[in-house]
Amino acid sequence: MKLVTPLGVGTAIWLSASLADASAQDLNVLCGVDEAWCQSMEAAFEEKTGFEVSTKRKSTGEILDQIRAESEDPRTDVWWGGTGDTHLQAVAEDLLEPYRSYNEDDVLPWAQNFYLMSGGMSAGVYAGALGFSYNSEILSEHGVSAPSCWKDLTDPQYRGLIRMANPNSSGTAYTTLATLVQLLGEDEAFNYLTALSRNISEFTTSGAAPVKAAARGETGIGISFIHDAVTQKATGVPLVIVAPCEGTGYEIGAVSIVRGARNMEAARQFVDFSLSPAGQATGAASGQNQIPSNAKAALPPAAPDISLIRMVDYDFATFGSPDQRRRLLERFNGEVLQNAEPVTMN
Ligand code: G6P
Repeated sequence: MKLVTPLGVGTAIWLSASLADASAQDLNVLCGVDEAWCQSMEAAFEEKTGFEVSTKRKSTGEILDQIRAESEDPRTDVWWGGTGDTHLQAVAEDLLEPYRSYNEDDVLPWAQNFYLMSGGMSAGVYAGALGFSYNSEILSEHGVSAPSCWKDLTDPQYRGLIRMANPNSSGTAYTTLATLVQLLGEDEAFNYLTALSRNISEFTTSGAAPVKAAARGETGIGISFIHDAVTQKATGVPLVIVAPCEGTGYEIGAVSIVRGARNMEAARQFVDFSLSPAGQATGAASGQNQIPSNAKAALPPAAPDISLIRMVDYDFATFGSPDQRRRLLERFNGEVLQNAEPVTMN
């Protein structure tokens, strides 16, 4: 793997009370993984350390935007989870604080490479491959065939039947964009995305929303990480998971401390815990299926075996660079989003 209103008296009283609450926190975390995992991690860390943690779930691109906006007066201490190439962009923008956890000694080679690539500013917590999944009942109700390749998804038979996230907010969707560029070449990837957008019913904010919608039968096909599809399938829904025939990309989910974090000691302990076998076990405990970075951590029983998936040699350094990301997103917005006319499923 290559590693890259008007204010009345009542409102004023409420405001001062809520500010007091915020300062009572020992640690403020922006969390990029699934809400269930955000909560189980918060509870486990509080129990282990006694710190009081405030955790908010956002999509990866939204977290980067918030940390950038707060950079003169950081309110966030730790950015935990979400796709690593976006953490690398924060490195390049000098938004992060260096830290080497003692648990780095136990992480797998892909996570060691990620840490080195980040210049010691960000650590790999988990990995997972991209793919798509379909609700077999919805596809048969619509009389359409089952897709097995990226190229199948542009077939007009799937008009209104597919959802993907918006790469401006979602790290999952940015991984999709970068994967397609690496698989097809940039111009061909944009031709593909333009054709695909004709079949998309909605570009969602969060990366797991498409597969959750497919699981609920609100769409036929959702593009997402395969581990998110595994989590949904485990609820007993008729979801079929596809590793696309052409090959696919993957993420390294990361944890980083924000430059100038107010609660530095608690932030370091949070990073230590997130890289420890006990911290990583909170993923499986909350039904998540990523591959943990710590070699001593247990693999969630249902985690997909990514060694069986045809994978691109994902270039994190290139696709985590601000110039590349900005340029690809501008091109996506101008050529794909601006011309997209989302069609709903009948
Ligand atoms: C889900 C996945 C994570 C991924 C995250 C990215 O929660 O389980 O592995 O890192 O999505 O979220 P986003 O909303 O930015 O695509």
